[in-house]
Amino acid sequence: MLFKQQALLRQKLFVLGSLAIGSLLYLVARVGSLDRLQPLCPIDGRFGPRGQDEIPLRALQFKRGLLHEFRKGNATKEQVRLHNLVQQLPKAIIIGVRKGGTRALLEMLNLHPAVVKASQEIHFFDNDENYAKGIEWYRKKMPFSYPHQITIEKSPAYFITEEVPERIYKMNSSIKLLIIVREPTTRAISDYTQVLEGKERKNKTYYKFEKLAIDPNTCEVNTKYKAVRTSIYTKHLERWLKYFPIEQFHIVDGDRLITEPLPELQLVEKFLNLPPRISQYNLYFNATRGFYCLRFNIVFNKCLAGSKGRIHPEVDTSVITKLRKFFHPFNQKFYQITGRTFNWP
Ligand code: A3P
Repeated sequence: MLFKQQALLRQKLFVLGSLAIGSLLYLVARVGSLDRLQPLCPIDGRFGPRGQDEIPLRALQFKRGLLHEFRKGNATKEQVRLHNLVQQLPKAIIIGVRKGGTRALLEMLNLHPAVVKASQEIHFFDNDENYAKGIEWYRKKMPFSYPHQITIEKSPAYFITEEVPERIYKMNSSIKLLIIVREPTTRAISDYTQVLEGKERKNKTYYKFEKLAIDPNTCEVNTKYKAVRTSIYTKHLERWLKYFPIEQFHIVDGDRLITEPLPELQLVEKFLNLPPRISQYNLYFNATRGFYCLRFNIVFNKCLAGSKGRIHPEVDTSVITKLRKFFHPFNQKFYQITGRTFNWP
């Protein structure tokens, strides 16, 4: 009998203990997520004195709630009107580079409470048909946001398309431009891998990377191959510099964003004049994916889709060496223009 009572008591104590630990853990986690939802500091000098323009905590929670719901079509137009939501033209654009990590950069920046991302690539400035629809069409493609938030879109084709710099300049000559780059040969192989996967999905055959990247007649690098051309970053950047001063660009190290995302994101926060809000709490390494994933709060986290982080095919080392030698002088020029040096071979 005594033994039975003792067992019962132990069981009750265990349940109470678990409840206490559970509540404590919940509170710690909640405080962690609430910390991120503190009111914002002024951005870009557009805000008045503290207090007047603070975003209330409730409003920022709302960013993760109603805005999300509205995008899924679950919030009413009345709610949008009541909360003063607007569709704003982007204040910053991730213009490229394709396969540099543009999606990861956009999603990670969207962790910031003052940033709202356009989820889809809009292809307004690089697609003549879309461009002909006019700027209002473009604005209507933007997500709803508070007036003090900034909208960011990414369309990597912008970086390499001839007409785009002038078109963006006409929309907003003081816009901030983000370019995320990776070591050029790795980027070219990543580019090839994406096309190869598309062909395989359609049961089509495709050339080996080596065959496309090297001209069989001259045995030199094939500069007509798009994946090679895109990696000549300096050539494209020089076209952009005819319209925008270098101060309006920020170069993100895409290789570092993979291994150590936080410092790269902090540099972007600074460039965009945003108060530092993205923290290590928001980024966790997922060993199964082999990449960092995103944590918005205690309940909501996500990794990028499986199409990000593909396994690259093996490429002949002599081809890799040839490509690296080819890109070397262009890279030097790129470092010189941007003031950011990478340890590319
Ligand atoms: P790979 O597929 O070659 O590995 P983009 O979004 O511009 O198409 O770039 C895709 C690249 O983003 C991927 O190239 C991957 O290496 C990189 N990347 C960077 N951070 C990532 C992350 N957290 N999760 C998945 N991929 C990431």
